[in-house]
Amino acid sequence: MSAPARHASGATVDFEHVSKQYDAHAKGTPGAVNDLSFHVPAGRICVLVGPSGCGKTTSLKMVNRLIEPTAGRILIDGVDTAGRDVTELRRGIGYVIQQVGLFPHQTIAQNVATVPRLLGWPAARQRERAEELLALVGLDPGRYRNRYPRQLSGGERQRVGVARALAADPPIMLMDEPFGAVDPIVRERLQNEFLRLQEDLAKTILFVTHDIDEAIKMGDLVAVMQLGGKLEQFAPPAEILANPASEFVARFVGADRGLKRLSLSRVSELDLRPAVIARVGDASAEARRRSATDPFPYLLLVDESRRPIGWIADAAIPSEGRLDERLAHSMSPLINRRTTLKDALSMLLDADVQAGIVVDRTGAVLGLVTADMIAERMRETAGDARFAAVDLETIERAGAIGAIEGAAQPSEPAPT
Ligand SMILES: Nc1ncnc2c1ncn2[C@@H]1O[C@H](COP(=O)(O)OP(=O)(O)OP(=O)(O)O)[C@@H](O)[C@H]1O
Ligand SMILES: [Mg+2]
Repeated sequence: MSAPARHASGATVDFEHVSKQYDAHAKGTPGAVNDLSFHVPAGRICVLVGPSGCGKTTSLKMVNRLIEPTAGRILIDGVDTAGRDVTELRRGIGYVIQQVGLFPHQTIAQNVATVPRLLGWPAARQRERAEELLALVGLDPGRYRNRYPRQLSGGERQRVGVARALAADPPIMLMDEPFGAVDPIVRERLQNEFLRLQEDLAKTILFVTHDIDEAIKMGDLVAVMQLGGKLEQFAPPAEILANPASEFVARFVGADRGLKRLSLSRVSELDLRPAVIARVGDASAEARRRSATDPFPYLLLVDESRRPIGWIADAAIPSEGRLDERLAHSMSPLINRRTTLKDALSMLLDADVQAGIVVDRTGAVLGLVTADMIAERMRETAGDARFAAVDLETIERAGAIGAIEGAAQPSEPAPT
């Protein structure tokens, strides 16, 4: 795969007090987008997230001027888009529309080559580009180029939509619920593939979703929007989960935001607990002595390359002879340093011995991770925990915001 190098990266995008009122005469109505300001650095993914009708699609369409703002400016690389030629502006902006929107009577290759064709590229170069992009998004050109959209699954169509938006290698991509219409498993695969692709492409991406989990996963930055096109919070995902700026954000990210934060941290952030290990063939008495000095009630038996074989309970270590494989009666999940804390915890909950074994690339033991260590890590990174212990729904039902001790005024915006 010959993806464009990292230097072929995106442009900065700035929203400056952007508003859109569809019906200019309907005075007093809030408008679709209301005084929206934020900065997206080059090569980053900014996710716009919020409930249906909060102005996400409207915001995207103002970037490529399918819709003109009523007030405010949008700058690309510091230049006001209002003064630019629309055709030339759109050439630098790929657009994946909500519901994919492939042309039904064109083949997949023709769909992907839409923009190159409009740009008047020679036919051979259009074809080449279409093939390259199909391969890039994981669709074998030989199998797919001559099919029609109706002959593709939902997930495949979404990939074609992404390929089409990438065709002219634009520095900016607008993606409106690009993975919306597929089942959760396909969606997860498309997300992962796209994140991998983005490591090479480094486009500046404005990505719309109404799914907070997708926002947290995909975004370098997340803009949480509220009905009436109002920006509630603009921050990296970890910050939004740790310090929701308002009650609306806290409720939108969900009561399980502590668990969601676990998916943003990896085992590599933990100081691993050393495991007491012994090799097959080691003297039992000596191993037994060593294991007794450690509070963890198990000894980890490993092979000659330090790869784990299984746990031996301290009480089951013989007082003489040599250790052998038959003594190991249970195993723990094997975890690597890239495993998220969420996955690690989930594996631990299923395990007989409550310690995950962290291994390196060769499978050799690096150390142990326990549920306590994960909880401790979350406490360390909690920051402002104003919302952590309160169930907002319950409080609201009781009509008691502010009256509950320790629930330090959840209705106040966070200090910035
Ligand atoms: N062409 C239009 N004329 C008048 N009102 C419009 C128009 N397009 C959108 N709106 C209104 O503007 C608001 C924002 O719409 P928008 O499509 O930007 O929402 P969205 O956040 O993308 O929602 P969804 O998640 O459902 O796609 C909505 O109240 C919608 O009804
Ligand atoms: Mg929309």
